[in-house]
Amino acid sequence: MHREDFEILKTGIIYFDNGATTLKPKVLSEAISDYYNYYSSNAHRGDYALSLKASAEYENVRELVRKLINANTTKQIAFTSGTTDGINKIVFGYFKNKLKKGDEVLLTKSEHASNILPWFELSDEIGIKIKYIELDENHKVTLENVKKAITPNTKVIAMAHVSNVVGDIRPLKEITALAHKNGIKVLCDGAQSVPHMKIDVKDLDIDFLTFSAHKMCGPTGVGVIYLKEDYLNEIKPIIFGGGMNAEFATDGNRLYKGMPELLEAGTPNIAGVIGFGYVIKYLLNIGFDKIHKYEYELRSYLIKRLKEIDEIQIYNENSESGIVTINYKDIFPQDLSIYLDKYNICTRAGSHCAKILKEELKIKNTCRISLYFYNNKEEIDKLIEALKNKNIKNDII
Ligand code: ALA
Repeated sequence: MHREDFEILKTGIIYFDNGATTLKPKVLSEAISDYYNYYSSNAHRGDYALSLKASAEYENVRELVRKLINANTTKQIAFTSGTTDGINKIVFGYFKNKLKKGDEVLLTKSEHASNILPWFELSDEIGIKIKYIELDENHKVTLENVKKAITPNTKVIAMAHVSNVVGDIRPLKEITALAHKNGIKVLCDGAQSVPHMKIDVKDLDIDFLTFSAHKMCGPTGVGVIYLKEDYLNEIKPIIFGGGMNAEFATDGNRLYKGMPELLEAGTPNIAGVIGFGYVIKYLLNIGFDKIHKYEYELRSYLIKRLKEIDEIQIYNENSESGIVTINYKDIFPQDLSIYLDKYNICTRAGSHCAKILKEELKIKNTCRISLYFYNNKEEIDKLIEALKNKNIKNDII
């Protein structure tokens, strides 16, 4: 769908690394160059027309994000540099002040580094305990296993909505309901879900959500934190500077602004945020339900075709997203990825930053094919043709 909007696709590239970052439609570079060419100025700091325009455009995007995820107010939306930045700001700006020694945080072994390392650091600092929700035989998170992992000391469940390797869509609504019944807060890493499906933070009842613009056709260096209204006055900044303070004096007295400015110290990525706004409108026009449905159909076709090849092992046949993780018998995944590049096919090989998932998959590295709405069956056919090459092993050497 909508392939004509992506200049790079005209080069013949087959891009299956959408879990890492997506391609960018022309509307993004046009919006960004428009800002740099015609109204480049700082936001929230100037009393002249150019700066007022930049500020207005920037704030319009906050409203678009509010609409995108169905938040109540724009106060609940802070811009970050990406999901990693967002999770760190929530862990150290909120949970560090709320948790105490012995409190338990539930993660899964399929989490990305960004949703594990900040918790390890916090554990070293204040003595919280990290525990893992068991995955089922398909490496998925089930409500049953979440239930089993909860103890009276559990205070937080932090997990991706969709795993970036297993590609399972976690039963988030049921998990938040269970968590809240037990006084537990839920931090959701939406990096692999917000770009691909309709997300309603009120319906899902998520406490904290983070995601990145670059995984949804937007620029790198822009992300979002959403938090429930209950926490607006409780989150603290971990970065201090201009834009987030109202006043400060020689004796150290200072007054900070409220959300969302509180979490946006320093000149933000104005061009990126404005570009992100254009991309959100672009995606809303296509429709997230349509994107989700199309990706699922494409995924089913990919699985069906991969099964024609005996040497292929699929690790997540039963998942629901556009992420398909494989290995080819006796070929190192990195070699497979380099081989596919000869056919202009982009995939990602390695542990995909989910470095403890190997304890579940029983293998450290895999090759990942991750789809988006501009991929199609013809591209999958070309991938299968490359994988069916009888001389694949010789061609790799
Ligand atoms: N989290 C990104 C990925 O899965 C980088 O590739």
